Amino acid sequence: MTGLRTLTDGVVTLRPPTEADAETMAGIVSRCRDHLWPWMVWATPDYATEDALFWIRGEADPTAHNFIVVDETNAPVGSAGLNRFVTQDSHADLGYWIAPEACGRGLATRATNLLLRYGIEDAGLNRVEIWMSTQNEPSRAVAERSWATYEGTLRQYLVLDGEAHDAHCYSLLAEELPQLD
Ligand SMILES: CC(C)(COP(=O)(O)OP(=O)(O)OC[C@H]1O[C@@H](n2cnc3c(N)ncnc32)[C@H](O)[C@@H]1OP(=O)(O)O)[C@@H](O)C(=O)NCCC(=O)NCCS
Repeated sequence: MTGLRTLTDGVVTLRPPTEADAETMAGIVSRCRDHLWPWMVWATPDYATEDALFWIRGEADPTAHNFIVVDETNAPVGSAGLNRFVTQDSHADLGYWIAPEACGRGLATRATNLLLRYGIEDAGLNRVEIWMSTQNEPSRAVAERSWATYEGTLRQYLVLDGEAHDAHCYSLLAEELPQLD
């Protein structure tokens, strides 16, 4: 499924994708594939519009809540979402990527906090997790800057392109969600 509503903090906006976004998103992924790889292993060399459609239709993970990340100029600059829902235990994973030319402006951190709130308030989760390879320092920095808390590092938790990576886990619990001003 796609995200159910548009989320914004006035700087970054997360909007549910439509099929009309497929070509644009495929173009961004193709252009910045070297930046995404190896952390986003779906970003294959032949990534095309059909792959973006597959993502938009939620066919890769029917439980996922997917959003396009849009900057202040209304340009799509990446995507973010919740996936791997474990309904019984009321938790899910939060993921993000931002095109390189839009990095360094805090957009990923803002998107992460919007999704942490969405996961708890809209999706009704008790716990939202952020996992990253211990080799992915930019992603760890996003989690550190966000409202999530570092919980620990699991051995060989992620397999990326056939290689097992140790992974850091960050999380936010429902009871820790900051109050809105
Ligand atoms: C991980 C990724 C999203 C991080 O992007 P990013 O732009 O570095 O992260 P942020 O949007 O939080 O921006 C942080 C930078 O903006 C700066 N910044 C400016 N204003 C900011 C603000 N209001 N809030 C936070 N940071 C701000 C920070 O100082 C930081 O700069 P620095 O890197 O020079 O220290 C990006 O590298 C990426 O897409 N990587 C490939 C995909 C990937 O690894 N995804 C995660 C898989 S687990």
